[in-house]
Amino acid sequence: MSKELSPLEVAKQSVDPYAGEAVFARLSRATVEDITPEEDIVMRWHGLYRQRPAEAGLFTLRVRLPNGVLTTEQATVLAGIAARMCGGRLDVTTRQSIEVHGLPLAALEGVFHELRAAGLTTLGACGDTVRGMVACPAAGLDPDETLDTRPVVESLTAAFVGNREFGNLPRKLKVAVCGCARHCVPVEINDVGLEAARNEEGTLGFALFVGGGLSASPTLAQPVGWIAQDQAVPVVKAIAAIFREHGNRSNRARARMKHLLGEWGIDRFRAELESRLGWAPRVIPGMALHAGSGRDHLGVLPQKDAGRRLVGVPVAAGLLTADQFLLLAKLAAEHGQGELRTTLYQNILLPDIAEPAVDTVLAALAENGLPVSESRWAGHTIVCTGREFCNKAMAETKKPAIRLLDALEEALPGRPARLRISGCPNGCGQHALGEIGLQGSGVKGEAGLEERFDVWVRETSPDGAPSFGRRVMSRVRPEEVLAVVREQVARF
Ligand code: HEM
Ligand code: SF4
Repeated sequence: MSKELSPLEVAKQSVDPYAGEAVFARLSRATVEDITPEEDIVMRWHGLYRQRPAEAGLFTLRVRLPNGVLTTEQATVLAGIAARMCGGRLDVTTRQSIEVHGLPLAALEGVFHELRAAGLTTLGACGDTVRGMVACPAAGLDPDETLDTRPVVESLTAAFVGNREFGNLPRKLKVAVCGCARHCVPVEINDVGLEAARNEEGTLGFALFVGGGLSASPTLAQPVGWIAQDQAVPVVKAIAAIFREHGNRSNRARARMKHLLGEWGIDRFRAELESRLGWAPRVIPGMALHAGSGRDHLGVLPQKDAGRRLVGVPVAAGLLTADQFLLLAKLAAEHGQGELRTTLYQNILLPDIAEPAVDTVLAALAENGLPVSESRWAGHTIVCTGREFCNKAMAETKKPAIRLLDALEEALPGRPARLRISGCPNGCGQHALGEIGLQGSGVKGEAGLEERFDVWVRETSPDGAPSFGRRVMSRVRPEEVLAVVREQVARF
């Protein structure tokens, strides 16, 4: 294998990826054809990626939200940007970000000014760096939680956001932190996973896992050992440094952490980590990986504060209108504590809703197209961006998914399966984790590539052992997907 740096790696060496201000000032008067490879890098590291179709010259903006937390004011700013840029559509993503589509170059300076004033950042939301950490959105509120992960996520975020030491990794590094009793965080598919766990003395810290990932070669993370809570930042920094120095920089397809683990084996990785830390995470016999349960916080749920409730709002395909987002923000301000949270399943959690106001909140949501119930199909479905905006897509996903969800809600009310839809094998919609997964594929037709879907199924294990689904059908026509999903549901 050639060890020559890929052209992108060469460009990355000469760029300060976080020097956005000068770049956005220049680009505000430029056209997309003028963007240099170096500026392209700066844009990505600022959470911007090019949308399909390329001719439109528009960008998607991804905002980083640690713990999925945002305030009423921040939600209002994002709704305003979405209203101006793309007819008021906001996408909630599986990494608890909010995405807004349709930004022209001329808008960037102003939008970044607005985001900064609202205390929002996009740094490291895309690009080859430590991405936004995912963590349970009910952290600090759920009476059953194992650990409130907000402090550690905040420390990790502070350690990595805009940190040039980790600004040029071979590829993205995804970190997940789970302290949730229902295991809503799929630590097993992240490059670095921290799962709240007790050591033999009963001290609450984290079981550390590395090297998980999806895409065309789904790989489960491997256990490294137990670490204390205050060791999380130095440990994740050491892992990011190992990845920075040893990840593959000649072939992007082999650059993720899981490939390094595959090459090295877990023992060499442990030894390398120990040599950097000066100590080793303690190996606890039988420390097993608990998989993400795929269960979101939905419906009206108890909170530690007995006078308040969590309201988990299903969002079909993660799509909200600006008006719906403003309503959620207003309800959070009037009946909660002015905070809302994004979940890992593209839904929204309203925390701190005063118990007497719950019915008012539910009625307002239902009137505005957001009926709240644990058993709606919308809450259990993940759908990637797909052909509408993604250059890699083989199939359109979001709009067909909404139609599919409406049909399933009517045909099989109250019996939702965990449905995961990706527009191509990259698997951003986590099709390999669905009870039923749909993955965009295609066949050559007279008019070019015709969209099809491969169907995956997975039996989840009651003891939480991690697994991936398997492909059971290939190249199903889009109009046949509903019937196929119904058939598969009937098998459960
Ligand atoms: C321009 C192309 C791409 C776009 C627009 C894109 C977009 C996204 C988005 C928005 C998410 C969050 C999922 C969601 O809620 O929609 C995501 C997650 C993910 N992406 Fe991509 N992606 C792209 C390319 C890729 C590629 C090339 C790979 C793999 C080689 C990849 C692998 C993944 C995986 C595995 C996840 C899920 C992991 C998780 O949720 O932790 N993506 N992507
Ligand atoms: S799964 Fe494929 S189509 Fe969907 S967002 Fe990822 S790269 Fe694009």
